Amino acid sequence: MVYWKALLYAGLASAAALFKKDNATAAGLDQCPGYKASNVRVTATGVTADLTLAGAACNVYGTDLPHLTLQVTYQTEDRIHVLIQDQGNQVYQVPESVFPRPGGSVWSQTSKLKFSYTANPFSFKITRAKTGEVIFDTSAASLVFESQYLRLRTSLPANPNLYGLGEHSDSLRLETTNYIRTMWNQDSYGIPSHANLYGTHPFYLEQRATGAHGVFFLNSNGMDIIINKDASGNQYLEYNTIGGVFDFYFVAGPTPVAAVQQYGEFAGFPTMQPYWGLGFHQCRYGYRDAFDVAEVVQNYSLAGIPLETMWTDIDYMDRRRVFTLDPDRFPLSKMRELVDHLHAHDQHYVVMVDPAVAYQNYPPANQGLEDNVFMLRSNGSVWIGVVWPGVTVFPDWFSANITRYWNGQFQTFFDADTGLDIDALWIDMNEPSNFPCNFPCDDPYKAAIGYPPAPPPVRAPPRPLPGWPIRNIVPNNKPSSGRGDQKGLPGRDLLYPKYAIHNKAAYQDSWNADKGGISNHTVNTDLIHQNGLAMYDTHNLYGTMMSSASRDAMEARRPGLRPLVITRSTFAGAGSKVGHWLGDNMSQWSYYTVSIRTMLAFTSLFQFGFVGSDVCGFGGNTNEELCARWASLGAFNTFYRNHNDYGNIGQEFYRWPSVASAAKKAIDIRYRLLDYIYTALWRQSTDGTPAVSPMFFQYPEDPATWGLELQFFFGPGLVVAPVTQQGSTSVNVYLPSGVFYDWYTHARIDGGATNHAITGVDITSIPLFIRGGAILPLRVKSANTTTELRKQNFELLIALDASGSASGELYLDDGVSIHQRATTHVTFTYKKGIFILGGSFSLRVPFLISKVTILGGRPSAAAKSSSAGGSNSESFDVHLPFTGPASVRIG
Ligand code: GLC
Repeated sequence: MVYWKALLYAGLASAAALFKKDNATAAGLDQCPGYKASNVRVTATGVTADLTLAGAACNVYGTDLPHLTLQVTYQTEDRIHVLIQDQGNQVYQVPESVFPRPGGSVWSQTSKLKFSYTANPFSFKITRAKTGEVIFDTSAASLVFESQYLRLRTSLPANPNLYGLGEHSDSLRLETTNYIRTMWNQDSYGIPSHANLYGTHPFYLEQRATGAHGVFFLNSNGMDIIINKDASGNQYLEYNTIGGVFDFYFVAGPTPVAAVQQYGEFAGFPTMQPYWGLGFHQCRYGYRDAFDVAEVVQNYSLAGIPLETMWTDIDYMDRRRVFTLDPDRFPLSKMRELVDHLHAHDQHYVVMVDPAVAYQNYPPANQGLEDNVFMLRSNGSVWIGVVWPGVTVFPDWFSANITRYWNGQFQTFFDADTGLDIDALWIDMNEPSNFPCNFPCDDPYKAAIGYPPAPPPVRAPPRPLPGWPIRNIVPNNKPSSGRGDQKGLPGRDLLYPKYAIHNKAAYQDSWNADKGGISNHTVNTDLIHQNGLAMYDTHNLYGTMMSSASRDAMEARRPGLRPLVITRSTFAGAGSKVGHWLGDNMSQWSYYTVSIRTMLAFTSLFQFGFVGSDVCGFGGNTNEELCARWASLGAFNTFYRNHNDYGNIGQEFYRWPSVASAAKKAIDIRYRLLDYIYTALWRQSTDGTPAVSPMFFQYPEDPATWGLELQFFFGPGLVVAPVTQQGSTSVNVYLPSGVFYDWYTHARIDGGATNHAITGVDITSIPLFIRGGAILPLRVKSANTTTELRKQNFELLIALDASGSASGELYLDDGVSIHQRATTHVTFTYKKGIFILGGSFSLRVPFLISKVTILGGRPSAAAKSSSAGGSNSESFDVHLPFTGPASVRIG
């Protein structure tokens, strides 16, 4: 780890220098002739044309393709699809099996967007049908379509408000000068800024005063998306990709929420996770043995901090080989006892699985070899790399037997009766990561020396679970052994493409162009999958393919139950299958704030439901104040997990009184709000409305919100505004025009042009504001587990807007089934003293609404049952079962 960190810091130090470099042959691109359109056929639902190279080939980074085709389809009233591909239909395209294509066509006259073109040189524009406003215009530079390089540039208005193009840790609203977003999935310890990280999401949203729209580039090849100004100061965004075709989807918005809904309509809305997944999770890398893990469970219990789910990292494995248990430190009998204990207490258990399989004589490797499911070299031998267990082989997710193999490993190892009965799954290293040397790595066996790292230091005396013996620690001193059916153009250089994307591996100390390029720290890109596709083209899909395979394997174990899978590497659309944690952040204040925007990008722009950062920070030692603040902030990520790196000081919430207190308070609020956020997640899973979003998603007409990334909406009605500075007890929050209420005091705050200074926020608290106009359903009290929580009654917070109205909704189901037999979805409206409960009521539940609090009603009226001091809220005891519609006069 120390070695890596040294490399990381060296890498960060040279980061500024890295991005000054540029691809040298830019001048050559100026000579590229572009294409001219012929045989243009305009139909009622689209346009087709042939595109022919308009002059002498420039062949800058490959060979210019002389003949292309254009196919434009008005797919819905809000979406246009533009596909420019090779006439021969040989160039690789993202397989349908990984990203299913949306169909559909509508009359062009009904479309809110219009496609228009110029024939020679060919360029096209996307405009808003009503106003003629141009949202995309490729005339900014000639189109280049070469065997290993494609370029398309669109001009943009000055100072555009652009969001997306993940995965990155940069500002939520993207920089617009000399800014490069590289898409090349990469193991990224320290999630450095201005670098490609674990996932690829070539979707951007642009917010203008006239509205928002979205652009999705369906392409899985390595690429640089450059946002910059040309020599004349004209703003542009330029795609530079080393393969694939131009496959664009334009969505009309005109609000940010509408734009991402329209993106989600074809990329997929987020999958529903089990309700219990919203509970608090504890994890770390470096738990020494089953006793160590059990002790953490017990300590949480003794500290009175609700622990829903306990996790174990690769430590549980026998010499870090997947699908094994260390027989001494994590013996099966003790592991089963631990899981039984957790289940008996309505708690859950999760472990990690990495894709790389140790290349050793053990059943998972032997079975994989027999089933022929590993990536092969051209000579037919398995390709070997180095990951945690030493020398490894890598599953080929396109191989014929992969489902049988992967499901088989899960069925055996995670068998509920004879194996490790996990409730959810954590998958990692699936960029895929291969270390530690930079490509070309001539001797992986040599490179494996030194793995795994040294065992953790001796711990304090254990406090075992009741009935567990205190026993000696077994030291970890074991040695380490270390659309797609187009196959892609032949004759390409799959290791060193001439256009060098700005691939920045966190473990290397200089730009990849000097170090071997795109195969750095991953599986060689010249490997060919069993179905004929090249890793060069599919690299960015690897994590998502592992995600799908693992989700299916989990579902096969427990048919009918929602599989909860958390992955590190993702591609566009993956949120419809899995959740995502944001990788290896650091225990530093800057990362605490970065955790907000990285989370928001996934939840609001990329259609993920379940997302969160390692709470208290992963790398390096955390500290009390940071961990306390993060315990509160993390409670407002949909995925709430404390995770820590090997060798660092422990950071479980019970280790400091203030952190324990912050966690208890935050978990109490989170749990009371759990059905509210579950409802928001359900809504997102059905229509793409983000459950957690930046401020501007709700106030797009207020430009002051467009750059906000430190405060956000958790669900439709709650603004979270954490303290963001070390040593500070205050925060400035911007509340847009309208009525808001302080969560704690119910005091009314009128939003508007100025920032509100919230002071006196001790390290155990987090400022929260309710949006006037929202009705928040809350459980009347929190509980130690989500199972207990689900037995509590509800209360409603009715936060009136300026006109005295409010509305909200609540979705209830069994919390675990993929297909629900009965659900209840109720809508709440309040207007002029009348509260109406409507909706559908097919789920029978033992709880009811027992209390209603109206915020902003009659300022000085005496409350009927209770009242928050000094506020203008009134509470009423009610008896409203979830059995059918009701209408009551309240207040
Ligand atoms: C990777 C993961 C991290 C995990 C570690 C060991 O760095 O990102 O979460 O703890 O591997 O498995």
